[in-house]
Amino acid sequence: MRKYIVAGNWKMNTNLPEGEKLAGDIMSLLQQRNFDLTRYGVIIAPPYTHLYRLSQIIDNSKVRLGAQNMGWEEKGAYTGEISADMLLSVGSEYVIIGHSERRKYQKEGDELLLKKISLALSKGLKPIFCVGEELADREAGRHFDIVKSQIVNVIYHLVPEDMQKVIIAYEPVWAIGTGKVATPEQAQEMHAFIRQIISDKFGNQVAQDLTLLYGGSCKPANAQGLFEQKDIDGGLIGGASLKAQDFVTLLDMLIEAKK
Ligand code: PGA
Repeated sequence: MRKYIVAGNWKMNTNLPEGEKLAGDIMSLLQQRNFDLTRYGVIIAPPYTHLYRLSQIIDNSKVRLGAQNMGWEEKGAYTGEISADMLLSVGSEYVIIGHSERRKYQKEGDELLLKKISLALSKGLKPIFCVGEELADREAGRHFDIVKSQIVNVIYHLVPEDMQKVIIAYEPVWAIGTGKVATPEQAQEMHAFIRQIISDKFGNQVAQDLTLLYGGSCKPANAQGLFEQKDIDGGLIGGASLKAQDFVTLLDMLIEAKK
């Protein structure tokens, strides 16, 4: 069954006390809500340094923890890297792989991302795999080709059983942190396209069960139209996930839209 999810990507924001406060605020807002945990999910991906502490603060039944990145090797002489085992040992269940900021600043490409996603899955971490085109690609009409190649070069190497654990987030790079959100029609068109590509390789059932998130300046002011689209199953939220009220409002809106 398809799950609807809001995932907060905190990026490089909050020190530990600020992160504890934000997680605590999210928890108290969620305490006032009852939602079907088999249909809806809430994930927060704070900085690595917060994971262990936040795993103690959150009520695991309502909020799940994710990391924003992961090393590509199991262990060894990779100074500064964080392994899948380390993430699991501090309470992470999810890991974001291939965020556009890492593709851009750390030059992470398909080959490396395939290593990371395969390792994450083999260790039992659930990947949130990000795809999305840059503005120039969209303006040149290449956006479908770009997103297709990002999926074919990585996701097509997985086996169908893995797909039950994978979440894909479509994040047009031109919409991330810019305040410029994709229209519901643009986002739906791409989400339907992605679901079709997944169906072509893994079959219709896998594609129908896949959680497909939209990301890029998604906030309460614009989420309704997005969440109402039939192939948009929630959001990967950056800026708005740093405000507890906005983040939980997005969950409320998602639940309302998918009733
Ligand atoms: P944004 O970030 O919501 O701040 O645009 C989304 C993301 O990068 O995941």
